[in-house]
Amino acid sequence: MDITKELVLEALSTVNDPDLKQDLVTLNMIEGVEVEGNKIKFSVVLTTPACPLKEVMRKDCVQALEAKFDKNIEVDITFDSIVTTSRLKGTNLLPGVKNIIAVASGKGGVGKSTVTSNLAVALAKTGAKVGIIDADIFGPSIHIMFGCEFEKPSVTTKDGKNLIMPIENHGVKLMSIGFLSNATDAMVWRGPMASSALKQFITDAEWGELDYLLVDLPPGTSDIHLTLVQTLPVTGAIIVTTPQKIAVTDAVRGVGMFKQGSINVPILGVVENMAYFTPEELPDNKYYIFGTGGGKELAKQFDTPFLGEVPLIQGIRESGDSGYPTSLKDGLASEAFQSLAESLAQEVAKRNATKPTTKVVEMIDGAGCSVK
Ligand SMILES: Nc1ncnc2c1ncn2[C@@H]1O[C@H](COP(=O)(O)OP(=O)(O)OP(=O)(O)O)[C@@H](O)[C@H]1O
Ligand SMILES: [Mg+2]
Repeated sequence: MDITKELVLEALSTVNDPDLKQDLVTLNMIEGVEVEGNKIKFSVVLTTPACPLKEVMRKDCVQALEAKFDKNIEVDITFDSIVTTSRLKGTNLLPGVKNIIAVASGKGGVGKSTVTSNLAVALAKTGAKVGIIDADIFGPSIHIMFGCEFEKPSVTTKDGKNLIMPIENHGVKLMSIGFLSNATDAMVWRGPMASSALKQFITDAEWGELDYLLVDLPPGTSDIHLTLVQTLPVTGAIIVTTPQKIAVTDAVRGVGMFKQGSINVPILGVVENMAYFTPEELPDNKYYIFGTGGGKELAKQFDTPFLGEVPLIQGIRESGDSGYPTSLKDGLASEAFQSLAESLAQEVAKRNATKPTTKVVEMIDGAGCSVK
């Protein structure tokens, strides 16, 4: 049988994206098919550069082509990626930002800022464009965790409007109240002032093009959470918890807020941080000091994916304090965050393929909200 472009596409239309459960041709993931004798060349355009399933897809494509033609073919597949978006086309606010991901928890101190920083770096390492908004206006951490405590953002003018330029470090764009105030100044602000600071990070900053904008939230549920969902259409939320009962119980409330009918932000998954303590030099020694299974239980309860676990490792804390996230290094901790980043990117791609575009939540009054 003569190999033609059409026959190649016919063969590839039997190969499914393992996550999206649809075939690669229908999903418009095959590009640039070239045929020369028995040589077939094309690229697969993935929905995330962090896709862990490249090799599975490569094998499936080769198998399908061999089944259609014969074993004597030469197949050259390149992988490219275009991150999908949860946003409506033509939106005015942050039009270059494809996905907005809220990082939340019930209990404080469970590691939201640590997880946000390391996820951002891990995503950026895969080639994605990433930013972080530190929405913890009363207790900012991101400026410290990225080692830019003393940086001051510059201002640029665009279409006659002054915009703050996020600080960029370790490949991630950052905005935090920590850049705008002195560490010694107490943040004695009323709630509405904090909410308006967050709004400014969104509306008055030049974020440019981003695949993922992570929002590091304060603990619990607050005005800040409502301001976020009322200002920006959020792609989804991830919930960070430790395995212990008290953290999981609090996390249930956190999940509940996002799932509430009037807010309805999809939960992309649960991260279990401090899953067990391990000395980095003895990684087989695991001590379950906060108990086990809390994160998985929470994910099961809300029928949402369990994105993965991160051990309690001294180096993670040291890296956070020294402003050099552990994801920039090699080792157990970095691998855990890399795997988390891949799972998150997969869940975002699945969400964007299966759920409607995001909307901003509109408050009716102090008690209730509706979706615009
Ligand atoms: N997996 C981990 N291993 C070691 N230390 C960790 C780990 N995760 C977080 N920490 C440390 O625990 C402390 C609290 O973490 P972090 O500030 O990220 O929590 P948080 O949920 O953002 O807190 P808050 O609710 O105050 O915003 C930090 O000192 C951090 O370095
Ligand atoms: Mg924090």
